Amino acid sequence: MLISLEGIDGSGKSTQARLLGEALVARGHAVVLTREPGGSPGAEEIRRLVLEGDPSRWSAETEILLFTAARRDHMERTILPALAAGRIVVTDRFADSTRVFQGLTRGDLTEIVDRLHALVIGREPDLTLLFDLDPATGLARARGRRGHEERFEDFGPEFQARARAGFLALARAHPDRFVVIDAARDAAAVASDVLAQVLARLGRAAP
Ligand code: TYD
Repeated sequence: MLISLEGIDGSGKSTQARLLGEALVARGHAVVLTREPGGSPGAEEIRRLVLEGDPSRWSAETEILLFTAARRDHMERTILPALAAGRIVVTDRFADSTRVFQGLTRGDLTEIVDRLHALVIGREPDLTLLFDLDPATGLARARGRRGHEERFEDFGPEFQARARAGFLALARAHPDRFVVIDAARDAAAVASDVLAQVLARLGRAAP
């Protein structure tokens, strides 16, 4: 099973990815925790290109190519081998991030994202957990841990508001794989909600 975690910056997905991984391992599942951009040595190199530097460093179109190249390498080297070995893959971000951050928030480039995805990725997660949060809260959380990876946070609050709306629209369009999680609650409450959703899905997937 491939599970993706999505949401705006500061939505708490990375903490929740870790907690979900620990809870699944405690139940005896083999789990691979990974992230995008990144998750394989080549994709981590691309991560540095896209997340560091000036906000105007790349056009949205160039970014689509870079994020998709990173995703292809991540699929080949990490995700597909793990799924083939029967592991549960939990990825902190996947293609919905490209649909929203490159496809929607700076003009409508969704067609490029979707066509490229169909050509070179061709797979959706079995379950996507959307951590939904007010962008002001998300930005305050993200600023609290500012490092050198700040290109997208530098785009500002309107960008994050458009991103939130974009994620919610994707959730409405794909109710079969999306579950919207209220990320404004404390981490323990969110984690138990997340685990319940994943266990319900695993139960349904079992033969
Ligand atoms: P991430 O490491 O998840 O940061 P955070 O924990 O702050 O959410 O993601 C890094 C940034 O990369 C984030 O601002 C969103 C952006 N991003 C895209 O713009 N497109 C993509 O396809 C992906 C995977 C990430």
